[in-house]
Amino acid sequence: MGYVLDDGSFYDGISLGAIVVDDETESVFIIYSHCAHYDDCTTSTTYLVESTDDGKTWGAPRNISVQVGTMMFAPGPGYGIQKKYEPHVGRLVVCGHSTINGAGMFCLLSDDHGQNWRYGGRLLGIPYNVKKKGRDFMPDESQPIELPDGTIEVNIRNNRGYHCHCRMKARSMDGGETFPLEHVTFDEALIEPAVAAGLYYSNGVMYFSNPASTNSRTNMTLRWSYDGGTSWKDALQVWAQPSGYSTMTMLKSEPQDSEYLYMLYEKGPVNKTAYEMLSFTRISLYGLNSCGVV
Ligand SMILES: *[C@@H]1O[C@H](CO)[C@@H](O)[C@H](O)[C@H]1NC(C)=O
Ligand SMILES: *[C@@H]1O[C@H](CO)[C@@H](O)[C@H](O)[C@H]1NC(C)=O
Ligand SMILES: *[C@@H]1O[C@H](CO)[C@@H](O)[C@H](O)[C@H]1NC(C)=O
Repeated sequence: MGYVLDDGSFYDGISLGAIVVDDETESVFIIYSHCAHYDDCTTSTTYLVESTDDGKTWGAPRNISVQVGTMMFAPGPGYGIQKKYEPHVGRLVVCGHSTINGAGMFCLLSDDHGQNWRYGGRLLGIPYNVKKKGRDFMPDESQPIELPDGTIEVNIRNNRGYHCHCRMKARSMDGGETFPLEHVTFDEALIEPAVAAGLYYSNGVMYFSNPASTNSRTNMTLRWSYDGGTSWKDALQVWAQPSGYSTMTMLKSEPQDSEYLYMLYEKGPVNKTAYEMLSFTRISLYGLNSCGVV
């Protein structure tokens, strides 16, 4: 099996990335962080690698901290989006979070197919840039999607359970330039133990995946909504035992591709931790008992 990057033995090397596809140029990018935890290094760098052949080969990593600075930025984890609806059609939007003290949700934007990047909207933690305690406001790992009216919605890890042990959501109506406080909400139905979650939107349906528990990373669950996440229609338990981060996608080339949702998630039944293996699961959207682990 091939790999995208090899960071050798450097402990705090490549970590915390998000993939983003430019459908206009057909380039695939991975934006990732180097020295995300300051373990054996002092300056964090945001890198980008690009593939122009659907991920078969990758170019040399490009240091985009030259454009955006060296604030630690942990993209995703998950994927970034390309705006399909006004405003700012074609814009690439990659959201993530910063360091523990400087925590907050930040989005990188590119309006020229990944050549130049800058920070757009942000949702800063409170109190800002000091060590958080108790149930302080601490937006963390983030997954954006675009709704058909051009709104960007970011589903955010509510790291300290501010307001509830449930997901935080922020919306931007200006293509990711701002995330106004009046559009920051909490979804009490989406309980979480503080974890990176999956969010996907296709054909009028919003999908959400995470370990559905307020206190432990267990019970990987898929939920779906027909009203943009205002209410959740149903839930499917994908894995009852330890389970961690997750992300989702759908294929878009054959007619039957609209029948399946794919979920990649961490799990581990054997030694009772969520980090023993990665599962890539195909879920049939039209059939019962068809949730199969590939
Ligand atoms: C990336 O660029 C920034 C800004 O010029 C620089 O401070 C940083 O050291 C560079 N990172 C690496 C690993 O060279
Ligand atoms: C797992 O999640 C489902 C869906 O929300 C819920 O009904 C169930 O009670 C959860 N199970 C456990 C053991 O938490
Ligand atoms: C479970 O733990 C044992 C003993 O440490 C180890 O050999 C094995 O590889 C672990 N299995 C998994 C799936 O992580």
